[in-house]
Amino acid sequence: MPPTRDTLPLEAPVATVDPVLAALLQEEVERQRDDLILIPSENHASVAVLEAQGSVLSNKYAEGYPRARYYNGCRVVDQVEQLAIDRVKELFGAEHANVQPASGTAANMAVYYGALEHGDTVLAMDLNHGGHLSHGQKLNFSGRQYHFVHYGVDRDSECLDLATVRTLAQEHRPKLIVAGASSYARTIDFAGFAEIAREVGALLLGDMAHIAGLVAGGAHPSPLPHCDFVTSTTQKSLRGPRGAFILCKATHQKAIDRATFPGVQAGPLMNTVAGKAVCFHEAGQPAFREYAQQVVRNAAVLAESLQSADLRLVSGGTDNHMMVVDLTSRSLTGRDVADRLEEAGLVANKNVIPFDHLKPRVTSGVRFGTPAITSRGMGEDEMRVLGQLIADVIGHLDDDAILERVRGRVRELAASFPIYSDVRYAAK
Ligand SMILES: Cc1ncc(COP(=O)(O)O)c(C=O)c1O
Repeated sequence: MPPTRDTLPLEAPVATVDPVLAALLQEEVERQRDDLILIPSENHASVAVLEAQGSVLSNKYAEGYPRARYYNGCRVVDQVEQLAIDRVKELFGAEHANVQPASGTAANMAVYYGALEHGDTVLAMDLNHGGHLSHGQKLNFSGRQYHFVHYGVDRDSECLDLATVRTLAQEHRPKLIVAGASSYARTIDFAGFAEIAREVGALLLGDMAHIAGLVAGGAHPSPLPHCDFVTSTTQKSLRGPRGAFILCKATHQKAIDRATFPGVQAGPLMNTVAGKAVCFHEAGQPAFREYAQQVVRNAAVLAESLQSADLRLVSGGTDNHMMVVDLTSRSLTGRDVADRLEEAGLVANKNVIPFDHLKPRVTSGVRFGTPAITSRGMGEDEMRVLGQLIADVIGHLDDDAILERVRGRVRELAASFPIYSDVRYAAK
């Protein structure tokens, strides 16, 4: 007997088809609703973005590019992808855009693949000082395929020092320089990097994965005028779906498109491309400019509040959406602090600090960011409260009574700034 639409339904909701998974989805909605997300690389995408990402476009194969596909039936997805391309080009003032990379790592892979030969030298930021895995970490494809040389931060200021970058560039003559970070609280001087790249005849990749939303909202200088290539994720400060894109000068258009498909990917995630189109639309609104500015203002106030509770911040503060607290003087580890904060409903992440003597799974630092809590509508007043609550937990890590009090306060705050009120996958 072949299955019928009654026995293998196409139309039933997940709660009916798969109550086990539906309960997990519901639990995650409630976790995001009740906790405060302070991980700087996370955010709460709008229901509009989530709707596009969860749409029937997930069913469509679309290898190739708009109007040049290897599959039929691409009439609609061609328009969706073109919309995303046009919007992101306008948003960042780019000559060319590829919106197909499924992740930030895939976007970086495509740039390396399009710009480099196996074994070429690349100069990028050290992961242990705030760089990213895909910037040449030795176990990552990047570190295995290419010869990465790393720059770090200055030991005293804990800031990037372009004089050191220049010296390394002159010594190693890289074919590509990567400017961009996962854990760096200061403004990145893309113009300064471009000058060094020009001096040594290198190409420049700006990886704005973390700061793309700030760049879109005018709250961080744009890498665009200075870089040959710019990569970014869409899910962080840009508040889109989990995905990525590449921007480049027109001269690199062919190389980037070929490197993305068929170079490192086959069929693009068209549902995610649709989510990116919504995200680029949202990020082009005047309200998003206000959001981005508020993310930065909130980070500054949260940083001040942590400092006034005697917590030391790496580099002494923040210019952007994130900050890293150095726990060394408290004799605490990032792992223990992040775990305890999570019990209180404050979800941050352990993070190495520059010159850390502890391993990446333990760390001497904990990293905080304001994109997600700003999406909830929180402002400076809430940042002062949060700074104090975080300091209370860190200052009394084993005190269950204090933890309970903080947990209660966090729940109240979260309830005052509700999210996803109408999102429901299963009955509670
Ligand atoms: C600077 C930077 N580049 C690239 C990525 C890679 O993103 P993904 O996790 O989507 O591969 C990240 C993610 O954290 C990042 O911070």
